[in-house]
Amino acid sequence: YSDADLDWRDDSSRVTRERDDQSLRDIVLSQVTPDAFEEYETVFVGYPVWWQMAAWPVNRFVRDNDFVRKTVIPFCTSTSSSMGSTRQTLEQLAGSGEWLDGQRFGENPQDGMVEDWVESLNI
Ligand SMILES: Cc1cc2nc3c(=O)[nH]c(=O)nc-3n(C[C@H](O)[C@H](O)[C@H](O)COP(=O)(O)O)c2cc1C
Repeated sequence: YSDADLDWRDDSSRVTRERDDQSLRDIVLSQVTPDAFEEYETVFVGYPVWWQMAAWPVNRFVRDNDFVRKTVIPFCTSTSSSMGSTRQTLEQLAGSGEWLDGQRFGENPQDGMVEDWVESLNI
């Protein structure tokens, strides 16, 4: 997504068109399943919040991978919105995995905040 694609103030930008037409939100990924995905026990799923939704490019990753026996830890960034229902929506889309509550960060979190959070998880 270019800066123009992400211009939420522009009625004809890519994100605005995708917001208004759900059929445009099924975004093809260059790689759906990371290499050696079956070897991972914990998966972090990070995304920005777009109009109170998880940015939809993450949907195929969540929908098309198998999270059975994995712990899934969602986290998001936003200007002001909370995680809201984004976590539950992604968990339903995935249909598998042990989804933790996750964490919301502001737009530009400092490294220390992220590190403190990761350490608090005791993984
Ligand atoms: C299309 C679009 C919609 C957005 N909607 C929201 C929103 O509903 N609530 C909010 O707090 N921030 C919203 N934002 C701000 C983004 O969440 C924020 O810019 C993003 O988390 C920053 O991460 P990034 O640099 O990885 O994009 C929106 C941004 C864009 C581009």
